[in-house]
Amino acid sequence: MPEIPVRPGECHVWTARAVCVAHDLALLLDERERRVYESLTEERVRAQYVTAHALLRTVLGEVLDRDPAALSFAQGPHGKPYLADAPVEFSLSHSGELVAVALSLGAPVGVDVERVPVPSAELPLPVLSPAERAAYDLVPEPERAAAFTTYWVRKEAVLKATGEGLRVDPARLTVAAPDRPARLLDWRGRDRGRGAGQPHPPVRLYDLDAVDGYRGAVALLGGPHRIVPRSR
Ligand SMILES: CC(C)(COP(=O)(O)OP(=O)(O)OC[C@H]1O[C@@H](n2cnc3c(N)ncnc32)[C@H](O)[C@@H]1OP(=O)(O)O)[C@@H](O)C(=O)NCCC(=O)NCCS
Repeated sequence: MPEIPVRPGECHVWTARAVCVAHDLALLLDERERRVYESLTEERVRAQYVTAHALLRTVLGEVLDRDPAALSFAQGPHGKPYLADAPVEFSLSHSGELVAVALSLGAPVGVDVERVPVPSAELPLPVLSPAERAAYDLVPEPERAAAFTTYWVRKEAVLKATGEGLRVDPARLTVAAPDRPARLLDWRGRDRGRGAGQPHPPVRLYDLDAVDGYRGAVALLGGPHRIVPRSR
């Protein structure tokens, strides 16, 4: 049994650092994951991949009381992984040295972590909606890279929760400004007659606790949920 069980209405988020390639972690991967892992040439990216996938398998194994190496993932139409034979929802993200896994019972979830780029980096500003761009333009220069990263993780967490990923133009979503509590304010074109500009069930957004140099967010469909931070 897991040390801290995941209860309905909770979303547990594990984070871990991927600092070096640990070959024993690769033993947990299935054939497809191992092929991807073997194809990666950069040590840093290999470490990130193997840590993320081993972490996902380990926490799912604990929560479901099953052998982590025997878990068999299916993929949704746009690549979101799921377990066909277990009532858990989960999401995985990796960036730089940080990996995160979010898990809930029954509510589709998306997690995204990103390293804050260096201040001189060119940022893909067209992913911001007009309302976000107007607020972003007022952010003082030295805070812009971090502010942009907050926008990005909040938007991507939503798109990972629905499973659509970057098939949807992130500029159609408007999330709250980085200095405001995380919230999806509008989704242009997403009106299914149950409330303009929002998907159904509604999306709830949460920021992850600050990890130096990174930003992170988790989105859940339905809820509300209590976010329970975990670490490995
Ligand atoms: C999912 C997606 C948003 C990933 O973003 P990212 O910041 O590069 O990567 P992250 O580390 O945060 O997330 C990657 C993980 O998300 C998961 N994932 C993949 N597709 C997903 C989807 N459609 N929805 C939710 N999660 C997805 C996988 O677990 C993946 O892990 P892996 O790559 O190690 O197998 C993006 O790659 C995407 O939209 N993919 C699907 C659509 C597509 O193929 N677009 C082509 C490029 S425009």
